[in-house]
Amino acid sequence: MKTTSGGYVVSKCRALLLLFAFIGSLIAVGVLVYFLADRPYPAAALTNGNGAAASASSSSGSGKKDQPHDMAGNKNVRLPRAVLPSRYDVRLFPVLEKGNFSILGHVSIDLQCQMETDRIVLHSADIVVDPKSVKVFEQGNKPGKTLMVASDGIHYDTDMEFLVIRLCPKHKDKLAKGANYTLSMNYVGNLTDQLRGLYRSTYKEDGVEKYIAVSQMEPTDARRAFPCFDEPNMKATFTVTLGRHRDMTALSNMPLINTTQMQVTLEGMEGFYWDHFAPSVPMSTYLVAFIVANFTQVEADVGNATWKFNIYARPSARNQAQYASEIGPKIQAFFEDYFQIPFPLPKQDMIAIPDFAAGAMENWGLITYRETALLYDEKKSSVSNKERVCEVVAHELAHQWFGNLVTMDWWTDLWLNEGFASYAEYLGSQHVEPGLKWLQQFVTRDLQDVMSLDALESSHPISVVVHHPNEINEIFDRISYGKGATIIRMLAAFLGEKTFRQGLTNYLKSRQYGNAVQDDLWDALTKQAKVNKVPLPTGVKQIMDTWTLKMGFPVVTVTREYENSSVSLSQERFLMQRSNASSQDKTVYLWWVPLTYTTDFQTVGSTWLADGQTGKKHELSIPVDKNQWVIFNVDQMGYYRINYDSKNWQMIGQQLMTNHSAISVINRAQIMDDSLNLAEAGLLDYETALNLTRYLEHETDYVPWDAALSSMGYISSMMSRTSGYGLLKKHFRTIITPLYNLVGFDQKVGEDLLMTKLRTNAVSWACSMGNKDCISRAVNSYAQWMADPENIDIISPNLKGTVTCTAIREGDEVEWEFALNRYMASNVASEQAVLLSSMSCSEKPWILAKMLEMSLDPNSGIRKQDAARVISQVAYNSLGRYMSFNFIRDKWTELRKVFPSTFSSMSGIIKAVATSFNTELELKELIQFREEKSEGLSGAERATQQSIDRAKNNLNWMRQNYQKVVDWLQRVY
Ligand code: BES
Ligand code: ZN
Repeated sequence: MKTTSGGYVVSKCRALLLLFAFIGSLIAVGVLVYFLADRPYPAAALTNGNGAAASASSSSGSGKKDQPHDMAGNKNVRLPRAVLPSRYDVRLFPVLEKGNFSILGHVSIDLQCQMETDRIVLHSADIVVDPKSVKVFEQGNKPGKTLMVASDGIHYDTDMEFLVIRLCPKHKDKLAKGANYTLSMNYVGNLTDQLRGLYRSTYKEDGVEKYIAVSQMEPTDARRAFPCFDEPNMKATFTVTLGRHRDMTALSNMPLINTTQMQVTLEGMEGFYWDHFAPSVPMSTYLVAFIVANFTQVEADVGNATWKFNIYARPSARNQAQYASEIGPKIQAFFEDYFQIPFPLPKQDMIAIPDFAAGAMENWGLITYRETALLYDEKKSSVSNKERVCEVVAHELAHQWFGNLVTMDWWTDLWLNEGFASYAEYLGSQHVEPGLKWLQQFVTRDLQDVMSLDALESSHPISVVVHHPNEINEIFDRISYGKGATIIRMLAAFLGEKTFRQGLTNYLKSRQYGNAVQDDLWDALTKQAKVNKVPLPTGVKQIMDTWTLKMGFPVVTVTREYENSSVSLSQERFLMQRSNASSQDKTVYLWWVPLTYTTDFQTVGSTWLADGQTGKKHELSIPVDKNQWVIFNVDQMGYYRINYDSKNWQMIGQQLMTNHSAISVINRAQIMDDSLNLAEAGLLDYETALNLTRYLEHETDYVPWDAALSSMGYISSMMSRTSGYGLLKKHFRTIITPLYNLVGFDQKVGEDLLMTKLRTNAVSWACSMGNKDCISRAVNSYAQWMADPENIDIISPNLKGTVTCTAIREGDEVEWEFALNRYMASNVASEQAVLLSSMSCSEKPWILAKMLEMSLDPNSGIRKQDAARVISQVAYNSLGRYMSFNFIRDKWTELRKVFPSTFSSMSGIIKAVATSFNTELELKELIQFREEKSEGLSGAERATQQSIDRAKNNLNWMRQNYQKVVDWLQRVY
């Protein structure tokens, strides 16, 4: 089946079409007749497999005129609801032939008519429908009546991504309210490499290039695979049939029921089959999945579960599927118990895809993953890789209930889907990997991480009204995920675990196979809180609306009156920096704040701050010795910062220095993060915050270190090109060296996973802050590895990143070339990712320039999915920062082509480049950049604005704090 000449391609193409036509009764012959008539567009669609969209003949006719605009001038992108789909029969044949990548499809949709109409409006994009094949007939006891489609009745509204089918006005045919119809048609599409819709992915097996077809529908790309009603609340059942070569396997959401041979006896076209899958449960289009691949299958042991569970991967990555096959069924069973609802499908498949835009996708019963998010190599992957696989698997499995069984009504409530899965992933992960102490890690990985974004004026509320696919794509961001997870965790804490879980189960059961908005969840929880007599100051909705409808979060200021054991509390929005914009914002930034406090971590007191107490102080009596500290926000369950009067800060500092374990691990992390960020925002003097960091000399727990290092990483990134950097490095070395000496370079057998992660951090900081011992050990191990490249025992996977980074930074071209060669030779995606990011540690500008060029070169060996990361990594290098900025300005047009508007690649690059900008000139250039490129920024506008805000903050930080930090350093060292 080699494709050698153009002529052959054409005949092959015809052969495929013949094949397609000969499927007998399955698919109407019309499409074939149409293709063979040599019409211009289907021919183009079939021969162009290089990513260009099929050029559907666009007519901006009737469909467009009908579209109303809302008040804000947004086009109404929602489908009319005159007809609703109840069942799809989708038959697809992805043609995996070089030079002929295409999709031959047939869809038949059962419709329920809600309102009399003469047209059917559904979604389709980059698809060409054979107009002659379009049929509408009425269902009934007798053979249904066929309705006439107007001769010019097929319109594409490419802007709206609509396909409009009009019935013939001459026949006065109409769809009648209450009646049921079937709409069917044949179509062709391209099997592009754009990582969306039904697309192709490639990999090499024994040096031979292989192709697979795979789908990614969320949020709005099912319409690129088959014409459909592509909105989350238009649920229907799906019966899928996939065509494949005999050497391939086809997979879909449901299990295979039988396979039939394609009835063709054309030369060179033998050996094709149709795989027929069981009808699905009612579900949204964005969860549909199709795969044709020749992967190996690893069957997991499911104990006495009622479902099967399989992992699929490239044959040569088979041994990397073991870990996922162990944890997958355990987590799925955990969620069955947690939600009190059995997993409703007979099977679950999880598959690692070589080219994948997101991290993973929760398609019901067929979850797709990027290789780094599913595969784990016992010998070559690190603890962080294991953690990543565990986290992603748990996240996608949580979606099987929260998202798949009950789905958001519209994308405005996306945060509910993603925020909940981002919360529940910690519960599932904790169940299978308790050693990683997930519930502690929550605060640094999500809560503190998202606070840094949500403290900017350009943040946005969790709940955002969205219309257009670009806007929808933009909200898959840290706010929806991290803040969503954080406020759900806070909610679970103030309701209590029992009430939260029972309310959740009630909510899921009452809406299963349907849709919901956030208020539905709040209702269910309020009801359960009443049943369980949970004391709440007001309804769950009133409380939660303050967190979902307003952006940002509060800082609560605690002022003690030491003589009479009382405390006065007040809240205001925490902003890194205030500009004029926020003084014009009329929102009342007050929240319902669930407050907790302790003086000994034995007993915990609680109270609420109300959203209506403008300016009013809240008084509280805490009977405690005046020489005893009080700590608020116990275990940082609440989404807010705490500031104290200076005496209380001082007492906390003393406690940390003398016996830090009197304060909980999470609160130590909270104290590091709050104090350094309060200082950054000008609400606490740097002296207090930096003095607190000195206790770290005694700290040996992972989470407080993680918090401290990321907040101090900010100071480091601000100062890395200033004269004060030498002293700052000295401070870092002083606090990190005791830890470095304690954990050492070598992993102990059987140690805690978090200890291994702590070592990774300690070694990384020690080396980058110039610890001599660290640098020489790293350089030596790398040299040994270069002398013995196949020996995997020289460097632990947990230190490979730091060792490679250090050796490349200290070294020259040979070290870099070696890493590149190992990257090319590796069969383990997570190892590749580590090598690629370490390669950007070089301090040779020309090497960095080479990396930037490679990111866009399709023949460089860097996958499209990783290109954005390469550019971001170079930008994180303080030498590469400006080079990357120049690069994106110069190569803007190419970049836009490589990264489709979906997925946040462009946003990520812009953020990475600008995150440490801190000079007037850099800020000016960034603003200019936004103005020049405003047209092409669609989907990254918000990220650009956030970057500008951040650069302004940075500039201010330099003006207000740089000297203070230097003064402190000079005093101490
Ligand atoms: N539903 C998303 C996948 C997705 C992301 C689709 C963006 C469309 C656009 C999936 O559940 C998800 O959130 N995946 C995460 C990983 C997760 C562990 C946070 C991802 O892809 O990064
Ligand atoms: Zn998700």
